Amino acid sequence: MTKTITLGQFIIEKQADFPYAKGELSRLLRDIGIAAKIVNREVNKAGLVGILGDNGTTNVQGEGQKKLDVYADEQFISALRSGGECCVVASEEHDDCIFINSEISQNAKYIVCIDPLDGSSNIDVNVSVGTIFSIYRRTAVNGPVQPSEILQKGTQQVAAGYVIYGSSTMLVYTTGKGVNGFTLDPSIGEFCLSHPNMQIPRIGTIYSINEGNYIKFPQGVKDYIKYCQVEDGATLRPFTSRYIGSMVADVHRNLIKGGVFLYPTTSSHTQGKLRLMYECNPLALIIEQAGGKATDGFRRILEIQPEDLHQRTPIFIGNIEMVEKVEEFVQLSE
Ligand code: AHG
Ligand code: MN
Ligand code: MN
Ligand code: MN
Repeated sequence: MTKTITLGQFIIEKQADFPYAKGELSRLLRDIGIAAKIVNREVNKAGLVGILGDNGTTNVQGEGQKKLDVYADEQFISALRSGGECCVVASEEHDDCIFINSEISQNAKYIVCIDPLDGSSNIDVNVSVGTIFSIYRRTAVNGPVQPSEILQKGTQQVAAGYVIYGSSTMLVYTTGKGVNGFTLDPSIGEFCLSHPNMQIPRIGTIYSINEGNYIKFPQGVKDYIKYCQVEDGATLRPFTSRYIGSMVADVHRNLIKGGVFLYPTTSSHTQGKLRLMYECNPLALIIEQAGGKATDGFRRILEIQPEDLHQRTPIFIGNIEMVEKVEEFVQLSE
């Protein structure tokens, strides 16, 4: 019987990895874990607590907000406010950053970018959804937080992670020293280490893309999709197509089984649909830390210099070999 290691114990054990952090990052990760448990409780009984359906409001993305989008956003922001380690929150659900200027947060060093509820279209049909978070350290030592401190490249993340509210609820995160997965044990209300040192399989045979957009894709992406469907035993094709519609769930499946997730530009989303700061950057850091790759077809996602909080980017993310094959097709048809 292996020893149960909770998220809290693990974070403290890994504390030694951060000479400069005197427990602040540990406490911040703990605060996120607490909010994840609260959101999980509502997700698990969404149909019983009147939290399904539309909230009747629209967010800066022009998306109709679901009640659970708003609920999750409130829970994570509340946990970050009361935890005292976070000075700014950038959320998918808010046009502008939220500056936390409380007594308890006056020396807070961390900036959190968050997608509180990823995969909103799946909430009402009981399909896995998630939360995605990205953590940066302030670049100035004091004074008001400047925009440049918030719009940092993905390479500057000090931590990144996601929660997947699925058949079980998992929290997966990295602080730049590997990826570890924790499964929520409802009987003790703790996230327990279940997937230590996660590595994406070197070979993948799953491609994940919304083929309903086929006609709107760039030619290189169309060619790649056709490539996936050709019979060729030597390269394990035809590949399997799997698309859940929650980025967290699609990327998590590929992290475990191998595969590539593609959300390219389309004629209706000319910059791509997925957001750099709180979807692509955190998941790119995780996948790179797990031995995979994440690009926009031409450059590393983590190297993109953000210009706007809600900017979008095309993304191809998964095991190196499959992502590089996509890049080949995309660059060939440029
Ligand atoms: P969110 O629910 O946070 O707005 O994100 C939804 C995203 C992502 O989770 C998913 O991969 C993608 O939207 C699905 O988009 P399509 O429905 O256009 O395929
Ligand atoms: Mn949304
Ligand atoms: Mn999302
Ligand atoms: Mn969302």
